[in-house]
Amino acid sequence: MFVRRIAVIGSGYVGLTTGACLASLGHRVVCADVDERKVARLSGGEVPILEPGLPDLVAQGLAAGRLKFVVGAAAAVADAEVVFLCVPTPMGAGGAADLSAVEAVAAEVHALLPAGCVVVNKSTVPVGTAARTAQLLGRPDVAVVSNPEFLREGSAVEDFLNPDRIVVGCDAQDAAERVAALYARLGAPTVLTDAASAEMVKYAANCFLAMKLSYVNAIAELCERFGADVLDVTEGIGYDRRIGQAFLQPGPGWGGSCLPKDTHALLQVCAAADFDFSLLQASLDTNTHQQHRMVAKVRDAVGGSLAGQRIGLLGLTFKAGTDDLRDSPALTVAALLAAEGADLIGYDPGVPAAVPGMTDDLQVTDDPLKVASGAAALVVLTEWPEFRLLDWGQLAELVQRRVVIDTRNLLDADVLRRVGFEVRGIGRRATRALTTF
Ligand code: UDX
Repeated sequence: MFVRRIAVIGSGYVGLTTGACLASLGHRVVCADVDERKVARLSGGEVPILEPGLPDLVAQGLAAGRLKFVVGAAAAVADAEVVFLCVPTPMGAGGAADLSAVEAVAAEVHALLPAGCVVVNKSTVPVGTAARTAQLLGRPDVAVVSNPEFLREGSAVEDFLNPDRIVVGCDAQDAAERVAALYARLGAPTVLTDAASAEMVKYAANCFLAMKLSYVNAIAELCERFGADVLDVTEGIGYDRRIGQAFLQPGPGWGGSCLPKDTHALLQVCAAADFDFSLLQASLDTNTHQQHRMVAKVRDAVGGSLAGQRIGLLGLTFKAGTDDLRDSPALTVAALLAAEGADLIGYDPGVPAAVPGMTDDLQVTDDPLKVASGAAALVVLTEWPEFRLLDWGQLAELVQRRVVIDTRNLLDADVLRRVGFEVRGIGRRATRALTTF
């Protein structure tokens, strides 16, 4: 295997995982970030995000001298053979991807890139961004490659080292092959294509996942109306290999830093191209509907009005295993509950205290018992496994009304029923059929 000198610009979720994993594959990696404090912490082996396996990989890379952290892109690219752009592409005006960070890096490094190096775009960017980046760099000797990432927060290291596929796109075949070779040791199926197709893969994948979840959430609502059980239904459809069991859990709506942003961005470019992607728009509308439906369930459970009712929230992050609150459906549901006058208190194992951006009406505690104290209803919004292990007997003594709205179908309803709780799930039959074979 060729060992390459790699620069990674941006040391957030994607950049840090990419840098640490590439170093673990034997490459020599310099990760850059604009945040001096973050660089200092990372250089000392301190990983500022909750990501299983990442602290070990960072420590190993630092100890082996294969991983380094520096401030600013300019300091990283000097002798790089491959430069990864892993900067944020947040949702900008009207839902379009905001490419200002990509543009700023291009402006900073264009004159510093070594002759013949390859620039790789890992951020999710609209189709055509590789071509635009090449234009901004103005370096005919530097190829721009699109190599989208498919990392899930909470399992990013595992996803990087055991990928379903590697996608590499460039209009110059040799540059694409050079980037694909970085991952050779992983033995994953590799799609070599042009830059526009690689960029499209990322949007097509994330939007498909969003659609799949909205579909499941709609099926869950139908199950409630027809007395069916969504867990049996999804198991039944999931055995069809064309559908698969993954990504079939109903919930309070999908969120996070990628699916909502990418769905909006694709719809935005569709609108600009005069293409009516009503299927995708419907997935987004179904997601909004799902969040409102969760609020209706809570309202219903407390007797028809949320005004002045104490509601305890279990889970604030957009999914379990992360401390990330970006576009968290839990926070959207919280804001909707607050808008109807609910008095909210929340607990999340990954979020010890309130952070800026949360609704002011939400008090955050690090004690799940405080969430239960005097609550008219408890609402599970994130699927943290530890919620199953709470002392539900003790919680039952503290609440004002023994009802749990379990928007993740996480809890063992039988255990809770034994201590007097009523459990209202998503798409669940009220009582499970007792017949066993
Ligand atoms: C997603 C993509 O999965 C990943 O490939 C891409 O690189 C980045 O975006 P991530 O944002 O980490 O990853 O979250 P993901 O695990 O996909 O979950 C997204 C949302 O869907 C979360 O709110 C999650 O709770 C929800 N979800 C997921 C469900 O409601 N049910 C499921 O079965 C799966």
